[in-house]
Amino acid sequence: MPQLVNEKARIVSNEQVGPRLHVMVLESPQIARDIKPGQFVHMKVPGAESHVLRRPFSIYARDAAAGIVEILYQEVGSLTSFMPGIGEGFAELIGPVGNAWAGPALYAEGACSHALIVGGGVGAAPLFMLVEQLVSAGCATDVVLGAQTKDALVTCGRYEALLGREPIVATDDGTYGYAGFCTVPVAERLRDGSTADGAPYDYVAVCGPEPLMKIVAGQAAEAGVKCQVSMEKRMACGIGACLSCVVDTVSGKKRSCVDGPVFDASEVVW
Ligand SMILES: Cc1cc2nc3c(=O)[nH]c(=O)nc-3n(C[C@H](O)[C@H](O)[C@H](O)COP(=O)(O)OP(=O)(O)OC[C@H]3O[C@@H](n4cnc5c(N)ncnc54)[C@H](O)[C@@H]3O)c2cc1C
Ligand code: FES
Repeated sequence: MPQLVNEKARIVSNEQVGPRLHVMVLESPQIARDIKPGQFVHMKVPGAESHVLRRPFSIYARDAAAGIVEILYQEVGSLTSFMPGIGEGFAELIGPVGNAWAGPALYAEGACSHALIVGGGVGAAPLFMLVEQLVSAGCATDVVLGAQTKDALVTCGRYEALLGREPIVATDDGTYGYAGFCTVPVAERLRDGSTADGAPYDYVAVCGPEPLMKIVAGQAAEAGVKCQVSMEKRMACGIGACLSCVVDTVSGKKRSCVDGPVFDASEVVW
């Protein structure tokens, strides 16, 4: 089990990629080497000393050989609105924090062969490395992406390159793909078992706004398919000490930072 490290990471670039969406590339060799899909980093950025608390971000992509990690972030509040103005400097990353998606291990055990991966908004980021691992292992993998509008589909091209075909896409305003929420194509696929070879799905992973995860969790339960979710609760310490990130589960309160962020959807009290 890799140790948590506190790595001083040089900011290589920090570019806007969509409406309120940015990608920050950082040199972080230990985290790039050790991080598993689903885990995250707790980050302090330069010039934001008034923000005492670190913020959690998933790793969108990594190049372990080059020692590089990428974070896809959305401007939602004080720190993430400050971040686009950061030029050169060093961020501090504590990581890898939390547990990982079970999909690759389930595939290796023969417990999963057809995966449906669902990313809503910036929730598509923590799923990319999962899809990379599933595809390279040989798991039949379909990806559904939802966004408010076409311009916000910033991960789509990278998923397309990885899958060799376009992901299934839905936009709330109908500017691309299905018009409406991505839960509609998810429901169709789970109901009709429309994988390439007609076999039913046996693993669903979803990340995005909580209402989306709740709906997909219900759809997967109805179809009898194992489903995992990534619970992105607000976090303070990020190391299991402050209980600011608790999730209600059928076996009591759990800390999203160290017991999660990935939970079995059937374990969560929605
Ligand atoms: C495990 C994990 C992984 C994450 N990965 C990413 C990622 O890859 N990309 C990304 O853009 N964001 C990610 N987030 C969310 C990110 O941490 C928050 O958006 C960020 O902390 C907000 O900081 P702020 O100072 O800008 O917002 P604040 O000023 O603190 O809050 C502004 C608004 O954002 C909401 N908010 C704050 N924290 C969260 C949160 N954790 N989840 C949902 N809403 C929140 C608040 O309720 C409030 O409405 C992740 C969160 C977790 C827990
Ligand atoms: S953030 Fe402190 S216990 Fe999870």
